[in-house]
Amino acid sequence: MPAVHICEVGPRDGLQNAHHLMPTEAKKEWLAALAGAGLREIEVGSFVPPKLIPAMADTGEIVAFAKTLPGVKVVALAPNLKGFQRALEAGAHKVTFPVSASHAHSVSNVRMTPDQMVEEVRRCALFPHPGVEIEGAVATAFGCTLQGQVDENEVVRIAAELAGFCDSVALADTVGYANPAQVKRLFGKVRAQIGDKLDGAHFHNTRGLGLANALAAYEADVRSFDSSMGGLGGCPFAPGASGNVITEDLVFMFEAMGVSTGIDFDKLMKARQLLVKGIPEEPIYGHTPLAGLPKGFAAR
Ligand code: COA
Ligand code: ZN
Repeated sequence: MPAVHICEVGPRDGLQNAHHLMPTEAKKEWLAALAGAGLREIEVGSFVPPKLIPAMADTGEIVAFAKTLPGVKVVALAPNLKGFQRALEAGAHKVTFPVSASHAHSVSNVRMTPDQMVEEVRRCALFPHPGVEIEGAVATAFGCTLQGQVDENEVVRIAAELAGFCDSVALADTVGYANPAQVKRLFGKVRAQIGDKLDGAHFHNTRGLGLANALAAYEADVRSFDSSMGGLGGCPFAPGASGNVITEDLVFMFEAMGVSTGIDFDKLMKARQLLVKGIPEEPIYGHTPLAGLPKGFAAR
């Protein structure tokens, strides 16, 4: 079993913020290649009003396709009960709910205050969902471009509420404000409250600290990471948010450290070619893909 678990969020976090639409068939090819590279969890889309985010309009079809890929946990994001019901209907294995700790971002993103959103997730958790996992993701946990500072006590409080009825809780640096010291401190504080329910780190690379933050989280005993191929990503309702931690570089970092990811780098590069083919006008990032693996490099 890999020592760390990587959830590829490019098809959701990445494409929701891209300037161009990826055709449904191209998404399917890309997803198949991601699965082929060894990604065992993929956030494939979101069930939000298609008018709001047209790139996510085909999520139902994409979930159905992704379920045909052997061994892949198919994740979708939902912002409310209606989205959750659509996710259940489509057959998602896991549904993630964004619960902002920033009041300003919460209202901008889901038109609900943080407490109203907690109640919405509770409502979903009470709705029958046999076999489907629910994750509460505390968004803007490390700061917010709309509000500025986010109180750590508020993050801990929301995480603790969510842990009461979610299967797992993640902390998300939606706008790339986090630094490694803060990551260690906040993951520590939340873990002290909710223990192993804390199961995921979602970082954006907006200020270049994505990998440093991922390493800090690893050192704080986090073993599940979100990342996005080509470093696509960002929340359309959080001004200034840009791409996620880059999957290719995250995989390289862990493998180089001797921490197995279960992901085949060469096959990951093939998936990257399909990402470019599917959305050729979109700029993509990544240091390791440009430089190549070090001479004689052997994955674990
Ligand atoms: N999927 C599809 N349609 C939905 C929906 C969903 N999850 N939730 C609401 N709708 C529809 C309603 O049926 C209604 O349709 P109608 O106008 O035809 O009657 C319309 O959208 C408005 O519904 P309402 O409940 O008033 O929603 P809202 O306008 O207050 O928006 C959210 C609230 C949560 C739906 C919206 O803010 C949202 O989707 N936010 C998520 C944004 C996002 O994806 N951010 C990035 C990821 S973190
Ligand atoms: Zn994100």
